Amino acid sequence: MSEEGVNPQRRRLLLATSGLGAVGTVFALTPFVLSMMPSARAKAAGAPVEVDISKVEPGQLLTVEWRGKPVWILRRTPEMLKALTEDEKFLADPKSSVAEQQPTYAQNTTRSLKPEFLVLVGICTHLGCSPAQRLVAGTASGLGDDWPGGFFCPCHGSKFDLAGRVFKNVPAPTNLQVPPYSFISDTRIAIGVDKQGAA
Ligand code: FES
Repeated sequence: MSEEGVNPQRRRLLLATSGLGAVGTVFALTPFVLSMMPSARAKAAGAPVEVDISKVEPGQLLTVEWRGKPVWILRRTPEMLKALTEDEKFLADPKSSVAEQQPTYAQNTTRSLKPEFLVLVGICTHLGCSPAQRLVAGTASGLGDDWPGGFFCPCHGSKFDLAGRVFKNVPAPTNLQVPPYSFISDTRIAIGVDKQGAA
């Protein structure tokens, strides 16, 4: 609307009314924001996080947040799974013998409930940096032609395979952590809670 022809008194009234509208909007939003807070707090405290994995393609990695930490969900290809049976000579703990680093159902070669899906906390077990993805095997990784695919921590050079198992002779003392999780369906995972009731 053109301001020409609006007298000063009417203009003041219009401004006052629009100000009230803005204040009204703030009050209207406040209960909504407050009602979201318990859920945000619950999430930070460790509430389970449900993830749709239906769009994750083979070879792709999805990152979600749980308890303020990055959690990776990697859909492994048949080649990636094959590499897990061939790279044990590089590994410090190929059998995942440190019990705290995974639930019992992930204490296996693939460190998972279903071999195709790896679920890992993406935090280096040395001093807590976030390792970089080096999923592709071989020289393209920049880590040598015998690199089996996995993760490389840029802080002090720790390496992990495609099951999060730590290499020998690196600073990280243990395999990456597998969090408690369960499949709600073929396409949905709950991170932070499992069928054994662990959280
Ligand atoms: S924090 Fe990863 S190697 Fe030191």
